[in-house]
Amino acid sequence: MSRSAHPAGPRHADVLPEGHYSAPPTDLNALDPKVWSQTVTRDEHGVLTVGGIDVKRLAEEYGTPAYVLDEDDFRSRARAWRTAFGENADVFYAGKAFLSRAVVRWLNEEGLNLDVCSGGELATALSAGMPAERIAFHGNNKSAAEIRRAVEAGVGRIVLDSFQEIVRVAHIARELGTRQRVQIRVTVGVEAHTHEFIATAHEDQKFGIPLAGGQAAEAVRRALQLDSLEVIGIHSHIGSQIFDMSGFEVAAHRVVGLLKDIRDEHGVELPEIDLGGGLGIAYTSDDDPREPHEIAKALSEIVTRECEAAKLRTPRISVEPGRAIVGPTAFTLYEVGTVKPLEGLRTYVSVDGGMSDNIRTALYDAEYSVALVSRSSDAAPMLTRVVGKHCESGDIVVKDAFLPGDLAPGDLIAVPATGAYCRSMASNYNHVLRPPVVAVKDGQARVIVRRETEEDLLRLDVG
Ligand code: LLP
Repeated sequence: MSRSAHPAGPRHADVLPEGHYSAPPTDLNALDPKVWSQTVTRDEHGVLTVGGIDVKRLAEEYGTPAYVLDEDDFRSRARAWRTAFGENADVFYAGKAFLSRAVVRWLNEEGLNLDVCSGGELATALSAGMPAERIAFHGNNKSAAEIRRAVEAGVGRIVLDSFQEIVRVAHIARELGTRQRVQIRVTVGVEAHTHEFIATAHEDQKFGIPLAGGQAAEAVRRALQLDSLEVIGIHSHIGSQIFDMSGFEVAAHRVVGLLKDIRDEHGVELPEIDLGGGLGIAYTSDDDPREPHEIAKALSEIVTRECEAAKLRTPRISVEPGRAIVGPTAFTLYEVGTVKPLEGLRTYVSVDGGMSDNIRTALYDAEYSVALVSRSSDAAPMLTRVVGKHCESGDIVVKDAFLPGDLAPGDLIAVPATGAYCRSMASNYNHVLRPPVVAVKDGQARVIVRRETEEDLLRLDVG
């Protein structure tokens, strides 16, 4: 980080030379189906509609900013994963991407299981009727109270993340007179090609027990000796927003290697392996995500091949997609407040939300798309940066975006693919109120998470 100040000049300005940007899209009114949910289209007036409802009506009724979630799109993506993996595998939706009680009910109806990683997510899942045996409980530092609650509820599996946790869970299960099904999370030493903060299987990070140096094997050895634990398998999650399957290939190879060592040492073949989540989605037209059926085929081929080579029975596979299910199902609807052209640079478009409803751009340098949605426009494209209302210059929603040159205050714009890790990572920075999540389906809209109010804020501040 720089510790000196000097007059700003072109050398340091965060503006790339002219010609750097890819050419503006030929049609700014077009909506690329890769980044928008399936029911999104423009009506005859050019207004974007989703689930049969136009965004002007949504803005009037629910205000902006708002996350607008397409229920049919969510359900069909969930179903696609379920169908792709079939009867011999399990799909656990990763609740950290976005969790609400409505979502839990949809998952339940679509036959998916749920991965939770905190007491709060567990409470949400249980309160919406997710059967405990279909819940996996994750986390690198679960509290004793969280573990107790999970064991008491009867969760289907707890994913153990450290040596201390093996003993902790065993102790609590014994106290409660039960035998807890567990998996052991290992780090396989794969460098996933993604942002450092969301890569999780290289060695120098906090998750899991390294395969390296025989540590994971030792963890399995200890867990197998504890009567109150039933070790059902090994877990590996290599990171997020990954497009390249080769990381999973290496992970599966190494996990199967561990299963083989376990068989050779203890005479047991663990029945399951979980390969985590992390499959990428399209945030812009440049991204090319894979379909669930391709992923399912690739993963099951890799595991079968590795197991055949190791002369092991093929274990049951589970996966934990979060972003790939919920990411593309929602967009964030904003109203434009100010439009500020900066001579020779670009135009800054300020919206009524920002880094409190989408921290991903600031945190990971994430790229997003954006479109004018309250009307169509034939105006020439202008280079913009879509920014929020927070007191911070890093409060950027879309770093480089082309929007029509006649964009004006009062227009509605939408940022697609904000279903994952936006509401779930939202904050109250600057005491800005978190937006609602409005679900749309068949011409009906309903709030599934309401907008935060000043009363909500003040209720927590006990004075
Ligand atoms: N399973 C485990 C054990 C995980 O840790 C995660 C994500 C998932 C599954 C789901 O990954 P997905 O399929 O959604 O990529 N906040 C970051 C992502 C952090 C992901 C943490 N773990 C972001 O906004 O990109």
